[in-house]
Amino acid sequence: MRKLSVNIDHIATLREARKEVVPDPVQAAVFAELGGADGITVHLRSDRRHIKERDLELLRKTIKTELNLEMASTNEMLVVALRIKPDMITLVPERPEELTTEGGLDVVKYYKTIKPIVEKIIKAGIGLSFFIETDKNQVAAAKKLGAEQIEINTNQYCEKSKIKNQKSKIELNKIVDKIEAIAKYAKNQGLRVHCGHGIDYWNIEPILAIKEIDGFSIGFSIIARAVLVGLKEAVLEMKKNL
Ligand code: PXP
Repeated sequence: MRKLSVNIDHIATLREARKEVVPDPVQAAVFAELGGADGITVHLRSDRRHIKERDLELLRKTIKTELNLEMASTNEMLVVALRIKPDMITLVPERPEELTTEGGLDVVKYYKTIKPIVEKIIKAGIGLSFFIETDKNQVAAAKKLGAEQIEINTNQYCEKSKIKNQKSKIELNKIVDKIEAIAKYAKNQGLRVHCGHGIDYWNIEPILAIKEIDGFSIGFSIIARAVLVGLKEAVLEMKKNL
């Protein structure tokens, strides 16, 4: 069975909308694990807009599955990561104004800058993954830097799958083929292959058909669904008070 790492950033986004203590991503992680999540993913951004260091500290102490920390390859993040020691670090690019991660990390271009950061991650015994585009050169550079996993960016595929016409269907198939080719290439290099960004309950099927994909990192669609799935019960509970 494929692995699922649940990204709980948007639980923290909701908390920060009111600067409250709830909903707590640490509690959310417990429910995700109860639901069968194989891992919990959080992105500690340099602006701390959702996940905070407090969340990471408590998640490290409480979750029973794999803690995957998405972060930019900066010295500031490295200090935090070496203190927390997640099971896995996924290096991602980060632009302060972006709504969400906008693309894969250019491992080829930033190879020399990333190398000293990566060496410290590996020395600390933390698993290493890179969030990358479907490009063999990126996979090769990730492998050379000592990655044990790559995460293929599925955003382009997910965006294209929203357009329902014949032309986009053909383009969509081409993107899926490209993802499959890269997944196969990475697998042959001995890398574990995950993918994520924009995956939901409807667009996952063609990606699931790619046997080389070992796991998924999914956040927004699960948290968005959780809000609606739980809303009826939450209202019923309030009505009981009235
Ligand atoms: N993988 C990476 C590297 C991401 O940055 C994100 C978004 O935080 C995800 C996966 C999950 O994407 P989504 O929230 O669209 O499921």
